[in-house]
Amino acid sequence: MKLRSIRDLDLKGKRVFLRADLNVPIKEGKIKDDTRIRALLPTLNYIIEKGGKPIIASHLGRPKEKDPSLSLKPVAEHLEKLTGRKVHFPGEVVGALVEEAISKMKEGEILLLENTRYEKGEKTQDPEFLKKLRALADVYVNDAFGTAHRAESTTYGVALLFEERACGFLIEKEVEMLSKLKENPQRPYISILGGAKISDKLEVLEALIEKADTLLIGGGMANTFVKAKGVEIGNSLYEEEMLQKAVEIMEKAKKLGKKIVLPEDFLISKEKPAVEVKEVSKEEVPSDFYIGDIGSKTIEIFSRELGMAKTVFWNGPLGIFEEEKFSRGTFEIAKKVASVEAFKLVGGGESVMAVEKAGVSNKITHISTGGGASLEFLGGKELPSLEALKL
Ligand code: 3PG
Repeated sequence: MKLRSIRDLDLKGKRVFLRADLNVPIKEGKIKDDTRIRALLPTLNYIIEKGGKPIIASHLGRPKEKDPSLSLKPVAEHLEKLTGRKVHFPGEVVGALVEEAISKMKEGEILLLENTRYEKGEKTQDPEFLKKLRALADVYVNDAFGTAHRAESTTYGVALLFEERACGFLIEKEVEMLSKLKENPQRPYISILGGAKISDKLEVLEALIEKADTLLIGGGMANTFVKAKGVEIGNSLYEEEMLQKAVEIMEKAKKLGKKIVLPEDFLISKEKPAVEVKEVSKEEVPSDFYIGDIGSKTIEIFSRELGMAKTVFWNGPLGIFEEEKFSRGTFEIAKKVASVEAFKLVGGGESVMAVEKAGVSNKITHISTGGGASLEFLGGKELPSLEALKL
């Protein structure tokens, strides 16, 4: 995929509309993880070095109205600390305050617009809103990989109104790394998929059956597969409407000579959240217990498979990882992935958090800043933001 590059833009003296994904976790005004903010710095610094004035736009969360807890103000303050530069924060997305702040920007300074989803026109690509956005800048740069699968005003509609438009260094790197999984991955290519639902990851599951050699499946989605094989799973969560699909996926894998590895044992509990947990084989889940994590035999089996990998893609936790009692499987697999000599790509909020908490993120070849976007990319879907930037 060839995209227009920021390197080909003349930025000197230009107002640069920079769409970023600064949708970071914030609790009581404090940023809990600034990975996405730091990931923007190469593009941001480049724009400033080339004499451009960056006007950054991002969404934060999914506000219904102008919910003050979803203001980007803490991000503006954090950006100021990270860059050591003045960050203007007019507190609006478009309008007189924004225009005034832009006109006052000096060279080397940055401007961050308020949460773009405070404006109804962001989702609807309202032409009036697009016109106002277009008027704010001379050139358009998109580096919001995490939002590349959303066709919104700032990620798509306004891009098309700029003659001069390109992607930044983050999008460039994400596309390059994810493309390695699609085009000639080194084999064996082993993919670990977890998380709650098959339905959220159906497209990628179907694409991975074709591309990968082995699929290791854990988390809530494994429950549906296990149940589809006629094994009782107590009162664990599963997707009734996906049982047939799970059977089809397993049949397709068999036909293509691909391996789907499901858990052989589990950690289970009776109470929610878990107080006491016990380990049982997959046939032994009592009707009043639920599955919370993969068991030690499964960790061993998954680890053995991973030991042979030359390419690894991981998305989704292998259990109810936010509960300490059910976090072992996800952490053990994070450590195993880190120890393998292979091209390793991890995407998706919780699996990224797992490699970070396990202290092994520096041993992963690429950590994607886009969970949903990376899945859609690998699933073969067109990502609107990237379509708008194609050469
Ligand atoms: C994400 O965190 O996945 C992106 O920022 C996109 O957010 P959205 O799912 O609310 O569009």
